[in-house]
Amino acid sequence: MTEKKVTVKTLRAKKKRGEKSVWLTAYDYPTAVLLDRAGIDGILVGDSLGMVVQGHENTLPVTLEDVIYHSRMVSRGLTRTFLVGDMPFGSFQSNEEKAMDNAIRLVKEGRCEAVKFEGGGRLLGLMERLVNSGVPVMAHLGLLPQSINAIGGFRIQARRQKAAEELLAEAKRVEETGAFSLVLECVPTEVAGMITHEISIPTIGIGAGPDVDGQILVFHDVMDLIPGYQPRFVRNYAHLGDTIIEATKNYIEDVHKGEYPSMDESFSLDDEVYRKLAEGVDKAGSENLN
Ligand code: KIV
Repeated sequence: MTEKKVTVKTLRAKKKRGEKSVWLTAYDYPTAVLLDRAGIDGILVGDSLGMVVQGHENTLPVTLEDVIYHSRMVSRGLTRTFLVGDMPFGSFQSNEEKAMDNAIRLVKEGRCEAVKFEGGGRLLGLMERLVNSGVPVMAHLGLLPQSINAIGGFRIQARRQKAAEELLAEAKRVEETGAFSLVLECVPTEVAGMITHEISIPTIGIGAGPDVDGQILVFHDVMDLIPGYQPRFVRNYAHLGDTIIEATKNYIEDVHKGEYPSMDESFSLDDEVYRKLAEGVDKAGSENLN
């Protein structure tokens, strides 16, 4: 566990030492406090919040304001964990100036230490400009959930030789922009391993197998907060959804049975105050009767 403040330097040094960095998403203060205490290296306020917090079927409706709002909450809970904010769909596609301004808003208003972009290609220039302006950039290649309508579903990427070669070439171009790390989502283990070997910046995998420099998962998936379908690459380290349902059922039952609250969970008057109050009520009661 890293006790000291995690920075881009820490993450680079970990890769050099062959040490994995471990990441989760988070979207609020209490989760941030707990993950920070547990020793997580990095938190991403991902646009996955659209699905696991807002209940949308994909990430497309998430706005920059949403990410700023959640990042601020998360940042208040952190003492040492590195914080990255996700650039949501629509916040960087239309023009580079707007994208620059929006990324800077995530740092200034969202208190993020870095910003993440899905995709490479025409974004490479923007990434380089941001890096040169002092904004650390995390890139994201492989499955790009913001392109769900174009790719037609959540599925493994770069399975064929040409696509794998293109991904490797793109990863190298991303590295050249000065990005400090690269998320690889849903790509075969061998491809992720090759990219990790070929580039000097840390690769953070999600559904990319073990041969990457770090792992990231969505908090709600790992903790099984919303029991139901989960992708194959998710491992549940807790079943908080079931725990919450069980606890809520127990609470309902205790209230119905009169077992909650007990006197220990209630407040009482001092005896003297109670006596006088009761006398007053008795007197008023008998006057009302007369
Ligand atoms: O939005 C998100 O949570 C992400 C991670 C899954 C990498 O992009």
